[in-house]
Amino acid sequence: MSIVFSETTRTFHLYNQEISYIMTVLPNGHMGQLYFGKRVHHKEDYSYLYETMPRPMTSYVSEGDTSLSLEHVKQEYGVYGTTDYRRPAIEIKQENGSTICDFRYQGHEIMNGKPELPGLPATYTEDEEEAQTLCLTLQDPLTGAELMLFYTIFARGGILARSARVTNKGTCELHLTTAMSLCMDLPDCDYEWLQFSGAWARERHLKVRRLEQGIQAVDSRRGNSSHEHNPFIVLKRPEAGEFQGEVIGFSLIYSGNFLAQAEVDTHDTTRVLMGIHPMGFDWMLEKGECFQTPEAVMVYSGQGLNGMSQTFHRLYQKRLARGYWRDKARPILNNNWEATYFDFTEERLIEIAGKARDCGVELFVLDDGWFGERNDDHAGLGDWVANPQRLPHGITGLAEQIEELGMKFGLWFEPEMVNKNSDLYRKHPDWILSTPGRSASHGRNQYVLDFSRKEVVDCIYEMMAKILSEAKVSYIKWDMNRSITECYSAALPPERQGEVFHRYILGVYDLYDRLNRNFPQVLFESCASGGGRFDPGILYYAPQGWASDDSDAAERLKIQYGTSFCYPISCIGSHVSVTPNHQVFRNTPLHTRANVAYFGTFGYELDLNKLTEEEQELVKEQIVFMKEYRELLQFGTFYRLVSPFEGNITCWMVVNEEKTEVIVGWYRTLCHVNMPYTRVRLHGLNPDFCYEDQNSKTSYYGDELMNIGLITSDGMSGQVERNTGEYGDFSSRIYVLKAVR
Ligand code: DGJ
Repeated sequence: MSIVFSETTRTFHLYNQEISYIMTVLPNGHMGQLYFGKRVHHKEDYSYLYETMPRPMTSYVSEGDTSLSLEHVKQEYGVYGTTDYRRPAIEIKQENGSTICDFRYQGHEIMNGKPELPGLPATYTEDEEEAQTLCLTLQDPLTGAELMLFYTIFARGGILARSARVTNKGTCELHLTTAMSLCMDLPDCDYEWLQFSGAWARERHLKVRRLEQGIQAVDSRRGNSSHEHNPFIVLKRPEAGEFQGEVIGFSLIYSGNFLAQAEVDTHDTTRVLMGIHPMGFDWMLEKGECFQTPEAVMVYSGQGLNGMSQTFHRLYQKRLARGYWRDKARPILNNNWEATYFDFTEERLIEIAGKARDCGVELFVLDDGWFGERNDDHAGLGDWVANPQRLPHGITGLAEQIEELGMKFGLWFEPEMVNKNSDLYRKHPDWILSTPGRSASHGRNQYVLDFSRKEVVDCIYEMMAKILSEAKVSYIKWDMNRSITECYSAALPPERQGEVFHRYILGVYDLYDRLNRNFPQVLFESCASGGGRFDPGILYYAPQGWASDDSDAAERLKIQYGTSFCYPISCIGSHVSVTPNHQVFRNTPLHTRANVAYFGTFGYELDLNKLTEEEQELVKEQIVFMKEYRELLQFGTFYRLVSPFEGNITCWMVVNEEKTEVIVGWYRTLCHVNMPYTRVRLHGLNPDFCYEDQNSKTSYYGDELMNIGLITSDGMSGQVERNTGEYGDFSSRIYVLKAVR
C-alpha cells in the first residue's frame, strides 16, 4: 500500500494490490478526480485522464480563458456554482448571503495509520502498517474556510475510507448547509444501482435498477438511519454478479439523517454523494470552529458482490466493531419479549429462564416492561428503576437468580425515549424535542428526549450506570421505537436549530461511548423497532443488532440475505420464535427456524416451556450444534449462493480460513410436486481437499463441489425429506462438510 505524490504533475496515487485512486490538482487549484478502480501501474503523469472539451452553453472559470469549466470535469469535492451545476459536496452560506465557494489546494500530509474522528464512529487501525492516510488541505480565499479531505487506504482489501473537515479560519460567521462525507465522480454511468429498502418488519430488501440520467437517491430524514433505507448503496456493472465483475459499495458510518445519491448528467458521467442529509442541516461555524463529517467507506471489488461483501465484513467485523466482544463467539440467548410481552412476573421469568438453562441457553434477556410504571406502552419510559410490583428483588435480585441458574443476565433499555406518564417527564417537560407553540407528535405513545443536551445524556447515563454497577448485567439491548419528526431543541438558539439532528446522534454516540468505556465487558445489541438503526455507526459501539422485528423464518431469509451485502454475520441478531409466528401468523418447521437463525447471533424469542418434549429435545440439539459451530458461522467467510429475491430457493454458506470446514444453509420456500433435480455450486473451497458430508458421509473433492455442485434435489420424489420430516413448505437443510485428508 502506498500514497505517492508527484510534485511535477501535482498528482496523487493511492494504491494497494487491489485498487488505485488517482487525483490531481486542477489548473484553478481545485482537486480533480482521475480514476478509482482496479489497481493500475504507478506513473508520474496521468494527465490524459483530465478531460476537457469545448461545449456549447459552457461557463468558464476565468475571464478570457476558455480552457477550464468545471461543468464536465470530474472532481473530488464539487462545489455548486463555480461553473459546476451538479449537486455539491459542500455548501457554505456566508454573511452576504452567497453560497459560492472556491476551495483551492494548499498542501497535504501523508501519515501512517488512521487518525480518529473525534466524537464519531469510524474504522480504525491497530498498528500503523495497516493503513495510510492522506489529508489534503484546501482553502476558500474569500471566506477563509479551510477544507480538509481525508483518504485512508488499507493495506488489505479494495477499501478507501473518506471524510471531510471544515474549519472557519476567517473572521465572519459561516453556515455549513451541506457537508458530504464523500463525493465520487465516475467517468460513465454504465451501472446498476442497488439499494436496501423496506419498512418495519421487512428491512433491507434488495432493489436493483439501471442507473439513468437524472438523480437517484435513498435517504432518511427520520433522525435514525431508518427501516426504509439503509445508508449503503452499490453500483455494479450490468454484467457483474455475485462472483464476477466490477462493483463499488458505498457505506456511511452514521446513524442519523443521511443521503446517498447518484447524479448522472446528460453526458453520462456519474456523481455519487454520501453524507449527512443536507435538508434542514445548517451548522454554524463561528471563527475558529470546525465541523467533522462522518466517515464513508468505498469498497471496490473485481470479484462481484460477494467479493465486495466479504471486504465489508472483514473491515466492519475487525476494524469498526471494537472491544471485548469483537472477536468472541456470541452467547446463545433467550429473550422474553415474544414469550410474555408486558405480562410477566419475576416468578414467570425464572420459569422461562430455568427451562432455557436446561436446554443449554447461556444468556437470559429481560425485555421491555421491567421499570417505572411500565405495564403497557403508555408509561414508564425514562424511569430506569425496577418496578417493585413485578420484580420484588429488583434487577440485582433477578440477575443474581439468573446467575445462580448458571446463565448470564441481559436487560432492555430505550434510553432516548420518555413517556409523558413518567417521573422524568414530570420533572423535565422541556427535555423532549418539540417545536415551541406547536403540539409534539408521539409515536407508540412516546416522545424523544433531547440528546443534543449534555444534561439529558448525563441523567440517562447515571440511571443506567447505577443499574450496571449494582446488578450483574452482562448484556444490554438498546432499543429505539420511534423516529423524530419535530427536531427542535429548547436549549439551542434559533440560528443553531439546523444542528439538532446531528447533535442528537452525537449525544447517542456519547452515551454509548461512556457505557462502553465504563462497562467494557457488557455486550450491546442495538435495536430500533427491529432494524430501524442497523448501520455501521452503531456497530462501532454495539457489535450486534436485532435485524428485524419480523422473526418468521421465511421472511427472515430476505432480511438476512439483504443485510449480508454490507454487514457481517456476527452482527445480525436472529432468533427462533414460536409458530404460528406473531408477525405473519405462518407455521414453519422448528428446524427451519433454527437453520435460518444459525446464520447470525443465535437465540430464542419464546418460552421453551411451551414446546412439546420432542421439540425441547430438538432445541437442545440445535444449541449443541450452534455451540460447536458458532465461531465458523459468525466469523467464517460468508457467501451468498442463491437469492430469495429471485426464486423459491435460498442458499448461503460459510467456510473457515483454512478451508477445512464448510456449512451450507439451503432453504425452499414452497414445496412442489415432482420437483426438478437441483444442485448448488459452492465457493471458496480448496479444490484439492476432499470434503465429507457429515450427514450422508459422502465425500467430494473441493473442485467437484465448486464445479459440479452439491446435489440438493429430493431424491426420487421427496422421499429423503419425507423420511426426515423435512418435506413440505418452508423446508431447509444444513450441510456440514469437513475436509478429510
Ligand atoms: C421493539 C423491539 O424490536 C422488540 O424486540 C422489543 O424489544 C420491543 N421493542 C419492546 O418494546
